[in-house]
Amino acid sequence: MILNGKRILLIIGGGIAAYKSLDLIRRLRERGASVRAVMTSAAQEFVTPLSVGALTADHVFSDLFDRQDEHDIGHIRLSREADLLVVAPATADLMAKLANGHANDLASTVLLATDKKVLLAPAMNPKMWSHPATRRNRATLEKDGTHFVGPKSGEMAESGEAGEGRMAEPLEIVSAIEALLDVGPRPLSGRKIIVTSGPTHEPIDPVRYIANRSSGKQGHAIAAALARLGADVRLVSGPVTIADPAGVNTVHVESAREMRDAVEQLLPADAAVFVAAVADWRTDNAAGEKIKKVAGEGPPALQMVENPDILAGVGHHKQRPYLVVGFAAETQDVLKNAQAKLAKKGADFIVANDVSHEGGVMGGDRNRVRIVSGGGVDEWPDLSKQEVAARLAALVAERLKTITV
Ligand SMILES: Cc1cc2nc3c(=O)[nH]c(=O)nc-3n(C[C@H](O)[C@H](O)[C@H](O)COP(=O)(O)O)c2cc1C
Repeated sequence: MILNGKRILLIIGGGIAAYKSLDLIRRLRERGASVRAVMTSAAQEFVTPLSVGALTADHVFSDLFDRQDEHDIGHIRLSREADLLVVAPATADLMAKLANGHANDLASTVLLATDKKVLLAPAMNPKMWSHPATRRNRATLEKDGTHFVGPKSGEMAESGEAGEGRMAEPLEIVSAIEALLDVGPRPLSGRKIIVTSGPTHEPIDPVRYIANRSSGKQGHAIAAALARLGADVRLVSGPVTIADPAGVNTVHVESAREMRDAVEQLLPADAAVFVAAVADWRTDNAAGEKIKKVAGEGPPALQMVENPDILAGVGHHKQRPYLVVGFAAETQDVLKNAQAKLAKKGADFIVANDVSHEGGVMGGDRNRVRIVSGGGVDEWPDLSKQEVAARLAALVAERLKTITV
């Protein structure tokens, strides 16, 4: 188990997302970590110490002045006897306290007294997250060396409001923890790998664009899985609403041409995995001004031109990475199209996924893929995107093992 023997001190702040910390505890323990929890008094309004203690199988700490707790372990030992401190959810209030060195309850005192790395998973209303005070606190904390995972964009649990502020999902927090603890075998250490992910947006005018339904979940999971195996991952992401993966260097782009430029700038690399759903076409001449709807004139005719083929460009590049992997999202003749792509694009593998698969691959959490290579076709079962990512990362590691640099 990847987190065997690791000790996590989980500080639960007072936000709606506290319910997700219960799942986080479960995920960490099933990976072999021991979890000790500190709850703020506000956190106890959202989840009970009874549930938290049942899941950690340990005493739950909450009161700085509890004589028994202070005698038995004490706040200093609590913060030292851990390999990593994780605050999830990290409230605006906890961020403010930590940024300013407050220590007026057990959670903030433990955070100030630690000599270990601290990972924050912020969760709050988008207005609170974008408030200048919170932004200032975040910048201060980053300067102090505090690590962050999320928040993400999406709908808020309590208000239905959309925007940035949603806590990262438990599995994303687990990935960030694994990256910070530097655990597991690292067969890809010293390898630079480029990954593309998400859709591209092709402008029609300053306010409109052509896009597709790619969420970036599969590509981001692959980037994280490669990083967990020790690779220096450079992720080129199209516009997505999910958080940058922890431990990965991410560049954000909008259009196919920007994605191509970003990828080419990152060469040379040991491997490249092209997961992004790059738009095949763009409008010939994006309008500089918003196209007006004029009565009687009817809709404008959009003239389309082909976008650069990033996979083929890198597959036949003079600085071609040792290993080039492409994704083929098809809705018909999946296998035949993937086999044709292999040669045409100069790829070593094509990961073929039938995006018409029930449950919806685009935006969904599961994927069924076939790995098409010169050696034949390997059919994988229906898996979560995280599992597909882990298997693919292992395959990349296996292939690169035979190549010495
Ligand atoms: C229903 C409800 C939901 C809340 N959700 C959040 C939240 O998601 N994030 C946040 O920063 N504060 C949230 N708050 C405010 C915090 O609970 C409040 O600032 C509290 O003092 C935080 O204490 P703590 O940082 O010690 O946990 C919420 C309050 C209420 C009543």
